[in-house]
Amino acid sequence: MENLLDGIETITLMGPGPSCVNSSVLNAMSKSTIGHLDPSFIKIMDAIKDQLKNLLHTDNQLTIPISGTGSAGMECTFVNLIEKDDPVLILINGVFGMRMQDVATRLGVKVDTVEFEWGTPVIVDEVKKKLSGNKYKIVAVVHAETSTGVKNPVAEIGKLLTGSDTIYLVDAVTSLGGIEITMDDWGIDVLYSGTQKCLSCPPGLSPVSFSEKAVDAIKQRKTKVPNWYLDLTMIMNYWEGATRAYHHTAPINMLYGLYQALHLISEEGESNVYKRHMDNHLLLADGLKKIGIEMLVDEDSRLPMLNSVHIPEGADDAAIRSGLLKEHKIEIGAGLGPLAGKIWRIGLMGHTARPENVEKLLSALKAVL
Ligand SMILES: Cc1ncc(COP(=O)(O)O)c(C=O)c1O
Repeated sequence: MENLLDGIETITLMGPGPSCVNSSVLNAMSKSTIGHLDPSFIKIMDAIKDQLKNLLHTDNQLTIPISGTGSAGMECTFVNLIEKDDPVLILINGVFGMRMQDVATRLGVKVDTVEFEWGTPVIVDEVKKKLSGNKYKIVAVVHAETSTGVKNPVAEIGKLLTGSDTIYLVDAVTSLGGIEITMDDWGIDVLYSGTQKCLSCPPGLSPVSFSEKAVDAIKQRKTKVPNWYLDLTMIMNYWEGATRAYHHTAPINMLYGLYQALHLISEEGESNVYKRHMDNHLLLADGLKKIGIEMLVDEDSRLPMLNSVHIPEGADDAAIRSGLLKEHKIEIGAGLGPLAGKIWRIGLMGHTARPENVEKLLSALKAVL
């Protein structure tokens, strides 16, 4: 009988995620499944919380991986914090800021936005102006906007909110593990991420972290969290305390994978990991320039792990991407929204960010263009 898994090829994943996964992470995931309340598993859960706190530079007790991809993390943060009539401000300069707006709006609250041109960063002075006349329960922004390759000034926006009651919520799906995040120093109250980008794990988990201020806001809710699966008031009882209470069955083997992926980052050293991402980004940008391909984003706000490049004049977007995949086993990403057909998105995330991959892509591009 045919088994479709036999036909799976190894693809060099150089798109916007998922990224290449280190074989030790895949091996970790193939270890025996144990019970979700087994004492050895609880030790692994506690270790993952510490690993995440280290990488995020936070003391937040509530730092855990949510079962589900990055969008589940996004939904989890908004659904636990928002109650009727809460004013929310979202800073938008790409697809994932828009997704935040969609998620928050579905909770029935008034969502205010400040929008910025795609491919450019959030302008801090514009945010300052907006905040001077308005009070918000939540201000939210995407750190690494994967749809454009822009890094937003998360630390500077945090400074505008210092000392206020506002909860500062940051999407770190693409940034975590690829560029520095110092959650507590930057005044971030709530953050969510994903496993399939710079953490180089398969998709399926979303690390989240909530400050004491944010946890208090959840505890002071007048109404129940309107989503059973993502209700942190219940999930906390599985991840914390001397006795753990079942909420939903944890994705055991995914968590083994996350543990191993975070272990690899601390073995390599956080600053070495960031340097590797930057070095490979510079190697790629230089190589692309030599074959006439220009970057979309200004140098100051470019992400090392997501390189948006202008599709060269006369090149057939879909045919080139399909040629790379079929003939060279390399995946790159297409543009989204207003950038569809105009850019390619080249990921150098986690285990993908290695010189041999940059060189492989550059020679494949030369062959297909
Ligand atoms: C910045 C950002 N936020 C959120 C998401 C949603 O994550 P997922 O697709 O894992 O649900 C993505 C996915 O690409 C992303 O890049």
